[in-house]
Amino acid sequence: MAILIDSVSKNLNPWLKAFKSYDDQVEVYCYDDAVALEKITTAVVWNHRPGLFKQLPNLKLIASLGAGVDHIMNDPDIPPQVSITRIIGDGLSGPMSNFCIGAILHHQRQFDKYLIDKSTKTWDQEPNPEREINVGIMGLGALGADLAEKLNYLGFNVFGLSQSRKKIAHVVSYLNAELDLFLSKINILVVMLPATESTRAILSKKLFDKLKKGTYLINVARGHHQVNGDIIDALENGQLSGAFLDVFPEEPLPKQSSLWDHPKIMITPHIAVVTKINEAVPQIIASHKRVRIGKLPEILVDRIKGY
Ligand code: GLV
Repeated sequence: MAILIDSVSKNLNPWLKAFKSYDDQVEVYCYDDAVALEKITTAVVWNHRPGLFKQLPNLKLIASLGAGVDHIMNDPDIPPQVSITRIIGDGLSGPMSNFCIGAILHHQRQFDKYLIDKSTKTWDQEPNPEREINVGIMGLGALGADLAEKLNYLGFNVFGLSQSRKKIAHVVSYLNAELDLFLSKINILVVMLPATESTRAILSKKLFDKLKKGTYLINVARGHHQVNGDIIDALENGQLSGAFLDVFPEEPLPKQSSLWDHPKIMITPHIAVVTKINEAVPQIIASHKRVRIGKLPEILVDRIKGY
């Protein structure tokens, strides 16, 4: 009944330390520790080594080290009886909402223009053209719902799109089937969708053509959603007025990518939110203990939906 933590991309030392200091009764190992793999009932992963799950005959729970589980769902070897859980909480939704609000205000208050004005020592007090800001959030899960509430509080008109209708005060909630209507209402699109088969390459010409001309795009979800060439075309033809991208199909974004040089694209290095170890560890240990006594984890990923 032990936990194995594995990642080929993250430094696991702070995680191991946090697990041990939170609950020294729980056995936690990393792959290179000489642990009998039959002991492992919970695998805690972020980009785990290929073939890992096949080596764990008593696996009951897979926990993501973050909010997303696409890195887990991409593995064809997840045993059918295994539950999957992920991290949620204020430590994720708070910084994520702040990041998106920053990106929205950056666009709304034309900070890019003032950077250019500064470089030419231009004092231009012409106010922003008054226009209504209608923010559309694709994906109203824990993160999207938090952003919707905060944007509404800040006075923005907020529209959301999700699989089931959501009740969030003053937020107009559309179903996925109402995508076209949702897209026609907004002039800022914030993408917070999980990476599933149905969202692959969704940010493409087909979708951009349904937006109001000059919509601003913010993607803080996954690069999996993006067709980079279509984003550039939509910026060139004015369908998009700008794009704030935190995620890319290939990360790190290759140096030769033309996204880097595009004046209407703001790039951040998949940094909108970083899991807080001290928030995640108690959640994972609680799930590990629930599964040990035959219960399901409180946050259970739907394996059919993929999130
Ligand atoms: C970050 O991208 C996460 O999924 O937590």
